Amino acid sequence: MITENVNLAGRSYPIFIGDNAFGFMACQMRDTAKSRRLVCVADSAVCAAYPDRVRELSQLMPIIEIPAGEKSKSVEMFGQLCSKLAALGIDRKSALLAMGGGVIGDLAGFVAAAYMRGIDFYQIPTTLLAMVDSSVGGKTAVNIPEGKNLVGAFHQPKGVFMDTEFLGTLPKREFAAGMAELIKCSLINDAEFFGELESLETPLCAGHPFLSKALAKACAMKARVVSADECETASSGGRALLNLGHTFGHAVEKCAGYGNVLHGEAVSQGIVMCMMYSRRLGLISDAEIGRVESLLEKNSLPIRPSCPLDAAAMLDSMFHDKKTRSGKLRLVLLRGIGKAFEQDGDPDLARKTIDEFIGR
Ligand SMILES: NC(=O)c1ccc[n+]([C@@H]2O[C@H](COP(=O)([O-])OP(=O)(O)OC[C@H]3O[C@@H](n4cnc5c(N)ncnc54)[C@H](O)[C@@H]3O)[C@@H](O)[C@H]2O)c1
Repeated sequence: MITENVNLAGRSYPIFIGDNAFGFMACQMRDTAKSRRLVCVADSAVCAAYPDRVRELSQLMPIIEIPAGEKSKSVEMFGQLCSKLAALGIDRKSALLAMGGGVIGDLAGFVAAAYMRGIDFYQIPTTLLAMVDSSVGGKTAVNIPEGKNLVGAFHQPKGVFMDTEFLGTLPKREFAAGMAELIKCSLINDAEFFGELESLETPLCAGHPFLSKALAKACAMKARVVSADECETASSGGRALLNLGHTFGHAVEKCAGYGNVLHGEAVSQGIVMCMMYSRRLGLISDAEIGRVESLLEKNSLPIRPSCPLDAAAMLDSMFHDKKTRSGKLRLVLLRGIGKAFEQDGDPDLARKTIDEFIGR
């Protein structure tokens, strides 16, 4: 098993990565359960796929199953969960475990942040996206009709248990979507990691010998960035760098209609547009763009529009992105592979970039 650490003074925590992380977690929780009440909030699809693991956990704590899917990340579900915790006698000293993908991690994390003004929680991510992205860093949220993740809190977990065996049942399309975030991590500041992904004979998949190492590299990168800028307040170059591909990507997601394009598929298209924009500024070569596009394609990710897109609507939605600062477009761009930076965006250039992408 590999261990990485997120260093945040009194709120530092470990990330355990490997094919035995679940067993290790169960062992730790067996001890913890002797002195504190525990509760697990779990994705219903994960419970159905892993009855033995659910049985093992249920000997230690009650398990609250949540219907799979983004719809569960709602204020209503948040309220219901808080009521269930109260009914179970969960108190300030108790701890909550979140077992599932980003939906469960975000929802249960937000419940843990708010219930009794904050209780401890642990992440047990079961999707690739949750492993490389959402389970680390402490961002928790639910959606409201006005927008995704508009209500939330920063609340760091006490530990993250990343068991790669879960990925064996993850649908291929979901795995590919997680790969977009993993490739993004390498593009931000780790050209060597990008080279390693590029040189793999077969692309990463469940059971791949490089999988745990790749997860560890992505988590180490995220941990460094989060340790330096936990609440994304740095004026430039901090946690916002993790948004590489996201401003264009969110515009794709919104125009496609939420749910029609997976987040990672939109990020892949967003990364391509970031590179096109960077090329217009003379920052990145055709050869480097070609390398990134071929890695994305090799991992079953789209590098062309995967559905009809409207350029004007996309640009408009980019101005309403959460990342916009005082009405200004903010973009993460690339000076090359492993060299991301942030700057104000030019709306004309952004429009030309979207037109170029749509015209592919
Ligand atoms: N907090 C953050 O920093 C952060 C970062 C990125 C994304 N997010 C959020 O994460 C969410 C997306 O996360 P996601 O992609 O993990 O989606 P998800 O949680 O909806 O999981 C995707 C699908 O996979 C299923 N699933 C989960 N684990 C499985 C397994 N092991 N085997 C088979 N099926 C499994 C789920 O039931 C679901 O249908 C979004 O709500 C997004 O806003 C949060």
